[in-house]
Formats: sequence, C-alpha cells, structure tokens
Amino acid sequence: MTAPLIDPFARPISYLRVSVTDRCDFRCVYCMSENMTFLPKKELLTLEELDRMCSTFIRLGVEKLRITGGEPLVRKGIMTFFQNMRRHLDSGALKELTLTTNGSQLRKFAGELAECGVRRINVSLDTLDDQKFADVTRWGKLAQVLDGIDAAQAAGLRVKLNAVALKGFNEDELFTLTEFCAARDMDLTWIEVMPMGDLGNEDRLDQYWPLSDLRKRLAERYTLTDLAERSGGPARYVRLEETGQKIGFITPLTHNFCESCNRVRLTCTGELYMCLGQEDMADLRAPLRSSDSDAPLEGAIRAAIGRKPKGHDFDYSRQAVDGQMTRHMSHTGG
Ligand code: GTP
Ligand code: 5AD
Ligand code: SF4
Repeated sequence: MTAPLIDPFARPISYLRVSVTDRCDFRCVYCMSENMTFLPKKELLTLEELDRMCSTFIRLGVEKLRITGGEPLVRKGIMTFFQNMRRHLDSGALKELTLTTNGSQLRKFAGELAECGVRRINVSLDTLDDQKFADVTRWGKLAQVLDGIDAAQAAGLRVKLNAVALKGFNEDELFTLTEFCAARDMDLTWIEVMPMGDLGNEDRLDQYWPLSDLRKRLAERYTLTDLAERSGGPARYVRLEETGQKIGFITPLTHNFCESCNRVRLTCTGELYMCLGQEDMADLRAPLRSSDSDAPLEGAIRAAIGRKPKGHDFDYSRQAVDGQMTRHMSHTGG
C-alpha cells in the first residue's frame, strides 16, 4: 500500500489544482495586464504528461482534482484529458473531478464535461452589467458567459459563482448578484483580491474591498446563519435564511485558512507550488521526463510535499504591495 502524502504540519494532501494553460480569452484587470505575454506552447506539459502527473498524484492519495488555467477550456484537446480522467472516477480512486472556468466556452463543452463525470463547476463572474463586464475582462461578452451558465445547468452541472470583490466596481451589485444566484439555485462565493501578478498601472489598494464590509451590508438585508462546515476549502460559508442559498467568503488577507490546507498546485509547465502565497516550487517536469518509470516523479512529489510551508504571507501593508508577487494567478491556477 502506498503511503499517503502528509506534509510537515500533519496535513494530508488530498487535493490537486492543475493549471492546464496560462492562456485566457479574457484579460481581467486584477489578473493579467493587457499585453500579457503567454508561455511558448512547447513549454507546456503535453496532455499525455498531464495525465501521467495527475495519475501519479491520484495513486499517492489525491482524491480531488480541480482543473484551472488561465482558462482551461481554451487548451486544445482538453476534452481528451477529461475523458481519460474518467477512469479514475470509475475506479473510485478519484472522488471529484471539477474545474474553474470563466464560462466563455461552456455552451460548447458543458455536455461533454458532464459525460466525463464532472458534477460541479465554478464560474468566475464579477458583474452582471454588460459594459462593466467588457471593462473588467477588457473585451469579454457577458451574454456568452450567461449562455454558458445556462448550458451548464441544462447539462445537469451544479454551478457556483465566484466574484472578486472590487471596490467601486461591484459594490453596488451585491444584491443583484445575490438575487441572480438565488433565482438559479447557485451558490455564490466572494473573493478578496489578492496581490499577485504584475499589472502595470492597476493599484491593488484601490481595488481592495474587504469582505468584512461586504458581509455587514449583506446582513442589513438578509438573515445570515454561519455554517460550520469548511470542507477543507478556503471559503467560510453563511446561509441566507430568506433564500436558502449559501454565500462563501474567501478572505486570504483578513482570515487565512492555512491550518486546514489540503492542497497543492501544479502549473501548466509542471512546477508544483506548495502554497499559493509562497514562491517556493518544485520542478516535476524534469523527473517526469527523465524516465518511463514513475519512481523519480513520485520521489520528487514526496520531497516537495515534505517542504510545504505552514502558510502564506499575503499582506496589504504598503511594503508588501510594493514588493508584490510577480507570479500571475493564471500561472498557478488560483
Ligand atoms: P474548492 O475547490 O471547492 O475549495 O473551491 P474553491 O473556491 O477553492 O475553488 P476556486 O477555483 O473557485 O477558487 C476560488 C478562489 O479561491 C480563487 O481565487 C483561488 O485563488 C482562491 N483559493 C483557492 N485555494 C486557495 C488557497 O489555498 N489559498 C488562497 N489564498 N486562496 C485560494
Ligand atoms: N485576486 C483574487 N482572485 C483572483 N482571481 C484571479 N486573479 C485574482 C486575484 N488577483 C480569481 C478569478 C477566478 C479565480 C480562479 O481566481 O476571478 O474566480
Ligand atoms: Fe482569464 Fe480568469 Fe484571469 Fe479573468 S481571472 S483573465 S477569466 S484567468
């Protein structure tokens, strides 16, 4: 029997987030600069290599895979990868196969995703206003995403919306977004904007809307009941008694959840980041390519998990923002 992956703080690692591409068809202002340069395609792990990586992690005890990007559904041939992952769901080794998407390609892929055993997906959507959507994504079309959400629900996928809380941008949509989700039986999670990536002129402090304030405003209209369950994830949830829906808060800056962290992140080039908020990483591509046997890869994974840090050090003090991380969320996959 293979020994499970346990980090130095006794946290079992059962969740792998995999970025399959750094490319995206949008350029959200808090995520990428307008003239973002993407990696040359030859740097990316091939679909076969992604399969080998994920299968090795699953053999070592990973039970949940979340596919991210960039936008995962713009990676050519990605449905072949999903189809191949189905075998791990069927064997029972993998409990959940899911993805985080901007929704733009869902009309095309929702049915196939459901056939591959995907049950729930997270869609990123920060505004329901056409013009604001075009502004925040720099050219995206809101109608296309809304149509994608409809297609996903019609295919039987459970959809959760993620909205990044942006000061002066979607503060006035707190209730419209809540009602939109309630009407479609979707949960909604708010995310504090994190200091990642070099964005050119955008100022992070100008974008930062603390979720403590958002929560206070929500409580002026709805009755909030705290839900205890954290499911190992970063969100804290409340239930709105009037609508029955769940609202999540991801607050890496004001409340971190590092003590219960169960996850690591694989980039599209095969680097393993042990923490979203730390620069330390392990190259898994070299050991993967070094041999047809998975033994070197397995050894490299265990060594990397053996140095997973206790937590991140995101900080909104002026110094930390000035010295902000230049790694983009689209590289590690959020
Ligand atoms: P689950 O996979 O079910 O836990 O959902 P999730 O909400 O974590 O996934 P999703 O991909 O929708 O991520 C939402 C946001 O949470 C993204 O902005 C992520 O970057 C952020 N996030 C996810 N995991 C972590 C983490 O370990 N640390 C921090 N700081 N943020 C995270
Ligand atoms: N801070 C917070 N969330 C971000 N995302 C991308 N960049 C950032 C950032 N700097 C979000 C996306 C998506 C998720 C995967 O990450 O909106 O919901
Ligand atoms: Fe693309 Fe998501 Fe980044 Fe927006 S936040 S540019 S949709 S990867």
